[in-house]
Amino acid sequence: MSDLDKISANQEGFNLRARAHLQSSYYDVEKFKQGHNMLRRLEREELGDVRGRSLLELQCHIGVNSLSLARMGAQVTGTDISDEAIDIARGLAGELDLDAKFVQANLYDLPQVLDGQFDMVFTGYGTLSFLPDIPRWAEVAAQFVKPGGTLTIVEIHPILNLFDSVDGELRVVRSLFQSRQVHHEMSKSYADRIEDEVEVEKHSIYGWRWTVEEVVNSLIAAGLTIERLREVPYDARQRLPLMESDGDHNWRIAGDPIPLSFACVARK
Ligand SMILES: C[S@@+](CC[C@H](N)C(=O)[O-])C[C@H]1O[C@@H](n2cnc3c(N)ncnc32)[C@H](O)[C@@H]1O
Repeated sequence: MSDLDKISANQEGFNLRARAHLQSSYYDVEKFKQGHNMLRRLEREELGDVRGRSLLELQCHIGVNSLSLARMGAQVTGTDISDEAIDIARGLAGELDLDAKFVQANLYDLPQVLDGQFDMVFTGYGTLSFLPDIPRWAEVAAQFVKPGGTLTIVEIHPILNLFDSVDGELRVVRSLFQSRQVHHEMSKSYADRIEDEVEVEKHSIYGWRWTVEEVVNSLIAAGLTIERLREVPYDARQRLPLMESDGDHNWRIAGDPIPLSFACVARK
């Protein structure tokens, strides 16, 4: 199966997930409609003040992060390969009278369908692992950054892929450097906590695991200057049963043994 076929399968999968996510506690669309800012703590901290800035969110899914950024005063464009997700994002923007533009495209085709450059380009939790070519991703992302502007990544820390909860303990079950490609047949999708996962029609999801080194070096190779790299012991959702909520949509492991998220800010 080619990478393009895998990307198409993911598109179908995320179309099914987008509808299901309207009921997912991870997105909590009702709270969002009431004005809640859906960006997670690390995303808010790393993006900082976005007022008056033009901002492109890559892989924006159903648009609640993009629209939160619009509420914060940014001129936002969100883009995603899932046409269902983009439909929902546009619907939410219309219903809430928020000014944001949404573009449906495979990330790798974006240079053919979107013009212009942005003060800020942003990609948040759960994006890079659906991309088969990170150096090319970095080139595409960098192309949309204005000279002097920034690219901000906030992501799940890849080290988490090594671990599982076994008898309530954190156990290494995989290698960071092997089993780089994954394929799962799924009939559920993510929520804030594992027990709240939402039912979705059976679908395939393909993934690629990238190390922090590969991500950072791809940014450098794309001509960007690394300004900041952060590793923090909290995550945006419960990925392992032993992760506990701190009450602000951040999940930690007791004793903070490993980084659970990382962020990188690079400048052009
Ligand atoms: C797990 S979602 C999360 C995105 C977002 N950061 C959030 O918190 O909602 C990942 C998104 O990546 C999109 N995606 C996957 N592969 C893509 C590709 N090749 N081009 C553009 N979007 C893609 C999916 O459609 C999905 O909406």
